[in-house]
Amino acid sequence: MKKNIGNVPYIYPIPIVLIGCVVNGKINYTEVGDVAVMGINPPLVAISLNENHFGTEGIVKSAKFSINIPTAEMMERADYCGIYSGKDEDKGRLFMAEMHETGVPMIKECPVCIICNVIKDFNIKHRHIFIGEVLGTYIEDRYMIKEDGKEHVAPLDELNPLLYGLDNKYYSIGNQIGTGYKEGKKITSEQL
Ligand SMILES: Cc1cc2nc3c(=O)[nH]c(=O)nc-3n(C[C@H](O)[C@H](O)[C@H](O)COP(=O)(O)O)c2cc1C
Repeated sequence: MKKNIGNVPYIYPIPIVLIGCVVNGKINYTEVGDVAVMGINPPLVAISLNENHFGTEGIVKSAKFSINIPTAEMMERADYCGIYSGKDEDKGRLFMAEMHETGVPMIKECPVCIICNVIKDFNIKHRHIFIGEVLGTYIEDRYMIKEDGKEHVAPLDELNPLLYGLDNKYYSIGNQIGTGYKEGKKITSEQL
């Protein structure tokens, strides 16, 4: 038996990201859980922001933003970005920023920063949805692993992303348990 808990989009876990932009000359970071990959090829992402956020104003004006992925250790500063608005607080002072050539800030403390160009945006109810095309993805050197002459990004347990649930709790990631496109092949048709 399952109980209907109402029309809650209870999808979990939610990766927490800090959306960086410049608003009226000021660096700002908005904490966002409503972020999704819209495709790898072409590389598209979507973020959903309240239309009244300071960050929303900056992205509408500049048509670009950064997605900074904080570690679990950065929880307090990430949450600060979700409590206080850039309209009242200078959140740019929370982190060390490196400006990308497009003019968006990349948080140095975050292992991964993704630079996006807005290619479509629209309002639904009180949300502003931005579809971003990924221009570049920047990974901190120490999270790049060299193996058999090839370079790849460290596993997620090392990147240690900050996760969130709709129970309003922050989480950190668990263990690696399998490989995509591989585990399902262990089920034979006789087992169905
Ligand atoms: C865990 C968490 C997740 C959040 N996710 C979102 C989100 O996906 N979209 C959104 O518009 N606001 C979200 N917020 C709220 C904004 O981060 C918050 O209102 C912030 O102060 C807006 O900042 P700004 O006005 O500087 O842009 C979230 C807050 C928290 C604590």
